[in-house]
Amino acid sequence: MIFANLEQLPPDPILGVTTAFRADPSPEKIDLGVGVYRDGNGQTPIPAAVREAERAMLAAQRTKTYVGPAGNLEFNQLIVALALGSLAAGLRERTATIQTVGGCGALRLGAELINASQPGAVMHVSDPTWANHEPLLGTSGLAMRRYPYYDPATRGVAFEAMREHFARLPAGSVVLLHGCCHNPTGADLAPDQWRSIGDVIESRGLVPFVDLAYQGFGDDVEADVLGLRILAARAPQLLLAISCSKNFGLYRERTGVLAIVAGSEAAAGAIATHQARTARRMYSMPPDHGAAIVARLLADPDLRSGWLAELGEMVGRMKSLRALLAGRLSARRPDLDFSWVTHHRGMFSLTGLDAAAIHELRERHHVYLPPDGRINIAGVSEANVERVAECLVAVMR
Ligand code: LMR
Repeated sequence: MIFANLEQLPPDPILGVTTAFRADPSPEKIDLGVGVYRDGNGQTPIPAAVREAERAMLAAQRTKTYVGPAGNLEFNQLIVALALGSLAAGLRERTATIQTVGGCGALRLGAELINASQPGAVMHVSDPTWANHEPLLGTSGLAMRRYPYYDPATRGVAFEAMREHFARLPAGSVVLLHGCCHNPTGADLAPDQWRSIGDVIESRGLVPFVDLAYQGFGDDVEADVLGLRILAARAPQLLLAISCSKNFGLYRERTGVLAIVAGSEAAAGAIATHQARTARRMYSMPPDHGAAIVARLLADPDLRSGWLAELGEMVGRMKSLRALLAGRLSARRPDLDFSWVTHHRGMFSLTGLDAAAIHELRERHHVYLPPDGRINIAGVSEANVERVAECLVAVMR
């Protein structure tokens, strides 16, 4: 029997937390798992500007015929320009861009192309990294390795170890960097550290692959891509995976882009043909809906500024939740330093809790975290912060 040999798999480390949370009948349950933004009512809102762009886009839409292998070209151009700013125009001739099935699609397509061009090439990811990076990228056939990134003692970036590691890598090694709001640690590189990493990448001939899933969730859409732009201004080659899930609230629309800055215009032209063929062989073409919304929004100055204001409110809320939680934790354990809660950027921080503590949180307190001890700050609210602090402190050894 076909499939009879397939055994039941364990739940996904992140999505499995959502499933377990939904199945828990406790009225006290708190979901600090999957990385989705939540407002004060616990809802994941569709920003008003995104809704408005969707309405306008649908009103103007006359057909649902195929768009084309590279997807929505206006979207591709606008979203890459949002990330690269004024660099985008100068790099356009040697950039191959394709709309993808979310940020994951962009990461996987990028990995497939690297492996097609350099079979068995090595991709270096941060230690730790997002739970799905290694399975998602490694399934392409690339060899996966880790570079030092996080120092649990300081709760910050282990910068010297990271830089030294990069300085020893052979030319052509691919290094995956989180553009901002590092997932899961919350610890980001400072601007001077990005410059220093840019120096090493350039001098060693490394290939940066930037995963940009949270532009605008750290400080703002410009500050969050400073590091990316430092790399794009100098590295001869660069891969960029962009997700619109979080900052546009388009999670289920699977809206993303893969942009590859190549060494020459001719190389970019060839890469574009491989992007299209590889996508064609996996899923043919990307879905249009989310990309058409984002294109409409970014092209309209009013919708764009409305969206930026809403994004600013989301970030402001996450920063105030961080301050609130740090205050509650400190009140309960004045002997411990919780300044990392406010220093980290984006939705995530690593709590440092071990597997037994995470199990206890779930079984005894109905508080849900992924196995790596990551906390989604947006799952905290004014209403539950006291209980979150109480439960976290209760399981700290
Ligand atoms: C997360 O890290 O929780 C999000 O990126 C959602 C996912 O797919 O894991």
